[in-house]
Amino acid sequence: MKGVSEFQTVCVMGLGYIGLPTASLLATKGFTVTGIDVSQKVVDTINKGEIHIVEPDLDILVKSAVHSGNLSASLEPVEADVFIIAVPTPFKDGGPDHISGKKPDLSYIEAATKKISPYVKPGNLVILESTSPVGTTDEVVAAILEQDGHAVGEDVYVAHCPERVLPGRILIELVENDRVVGGINESSTAVTVDFYERFVRGAVLATTAKTAEMVKLTENSSRDVQIAFANELSMICETETIDTWQVIELANRHPRVNILQPGPGVGGHCIAVDPWFIVDRSPKCSNLIRTAREVNDAKPEWVIERVKKCADKFKSPTIACLGLAFKADVDDLRESPAFDIVKKLQAEKIGELLICEPNLKSHDDFDLCTLDDAIKRADIVLLLVDHKSFKKCKASDLGEKVVIDTRGVIK
Ligand SMILES: NC(=O)c1ccc[n+]([C@@H]2O[C@H](COP(=O)([O-])OP(=O)(O)OC[C@H]3O[C@@H](n4cnc5c(N)ncnc54)[C@H](O)[C@@H]3O)[C@@H](O)[C@H]2O)c1
Repeated sequence: MKGVSEFQTVCVMGLGYIGLPTASLLATKGFTVTGIDVSQKVVDTINKGEIHIVEPDLDILVKSAVHSGNLSASLEPVEADVFIIAVPTPFKDGGPDHISGKKPDLSYIEAATKKISPYVKPGNLVILESTSPVGTTDEVVAAILEQDGHAVGEDVYVAHCPERVLPGRILIELVENDRVVGGINESSTAVTVDFYERFVRGAVLATTAKTAEMVKLTENSSRDVQIAFANELSMICETETIDTWQVIELANRHPRVNILQPGPGVGGHCIAVDPWFIVDRSPKCSNLIRTAREVNDAKPEWVIERVKKCADKFKSPTIACLGLAFKADVDDLRESPAFDIVKKLQAEKIGELLICEPNLKSHDDFDLCTLDDAIKRADIVLLLVDHKSFKKCKASDLGEKVVIDTRGVIK
C-alpha cells in the first residue's frame, strides 16, 4: 500500500465549476489527473485544452494542464490513488407529504460512487467534495463502496472536504481558503489532511465527516438567514416609507451590528439550495432556517407586486429591467430571482420590457438591449442586480422616471 506522500494519480468525477478547476490545479502541481464527466461535449472540449464554463484564468490553467500531459478527460473512470467526487447536489420534488417539498437529490453522488467502485483498490482515498446533507459520506459513499466488498475505513479511506470557493475567484480561493476535512474514521481524516496540505496554502482543519458536512451547510444557511433579515427589514421599511439602506447604514454604525444588504431574493445553486438539506433532515429543529428560506423565496413576488402597483399608473408602461444574473458581475442565471421576476412580468404582460444583462451576449427567451437604450425609453426603471455598469446610474439622470431599486445602488 502507498503512503499518502506517494499518491500520484487522481481521478476527479464531475468537471464543472468545482471539478475542473480542482483537476487542473492538481495537474499543474504535478499529479497525473483524469477528469471524468458524463457529457461527451465536456470531455472533448477539455481534451482540446479548452473550457466550457466561464471563470477567470481557468482557460490558461486548463490549457497548460492538458498540454503538459498531466490532465486528460474521459467518460470512464480509471484506477487512481485518489478519487474526488464533485458532482451536482440539487434538490428534487419531495412530494406533497414532505415538509418543504424540497428533498436532496443524491442520485449524482450515488451514480459517481458506483462508477468508481470497480476501480478502487486497497490504499486508495475517496473524497466527497459535493455539498451534501449530513450523513452522506458515511451513508451513501462509504455504504456503496462497502456493499461492493471494499474494506472501507481499513484499507480504503473515505472523507468529506466541502468546497467553499466563490465563483469569479475560484482559482485563488482553491489554494488560499482554509479547508475543513472530515473522514469516516481517524485514519481517513489523517490521510485526507495530508493530501490537501500538498496543494492548499490555507489551513487544513480536521474533524469528522458529519461535522464537515454540517459546517458547509451552516455557512450557507447562516448567509441565507442574515439576508432574510435584511429582506424582511426592506419590506417593513417600505410600508413605513423609510429608506431601508439608510436604516441599515446607520444601524451598522453600532459596534456590534452588521446587517447585510437586501435584494430581490436569494439565488445561485448554493445559498438558495443547501439550507433545505438541513430542513429535510431536521424538520422539527429548523424553523428559523426554513422561515428564512421562505422569506427569501417570497421576495421576488413582493418585487413583482411593487412593479404592478407602479405600472397601474401608466396606460402602457415601458419597464427597463436591469439584470438577470443571480448576483453582481456574473453570467450565472441559476435560481436567479432577477430572472424569475422578469419571466413573470413577461408572462403577465406587465408593459413593454426592455431587458439589459451586460454579462450575456444573448438569451433564448429575451431580446437584450443596452443600458442606455433601456433607460432612455423606460417609464419605470427596475434595478435587479448590482452589476458594476449599473452602479453608474444616478437618480438625477433618471428625471421623472419611476425607480424601483431592489439593490440600493441608484444614489
Ligand atoms: N459552483 C460553486 O461555486 C460551488 C461552490 C461550493 C460548492 N459547490 C458544490 O460542488 C458540487 C459541484 O458543483 P458544480 O458547481 O461544480 O456543478 P456543475 O454543474 O458545474 O458541474 C458538475 C459536473 O458533473 C457532471 N456529472 C454529473 N453526474 C456525473 C457523474 N455521475 N459522473 C461524472 N460527472 C458527472 C456534470 O455533467 C457536470 O459537468 C455541488 O455539490 C455544489 O453544490 C459548488
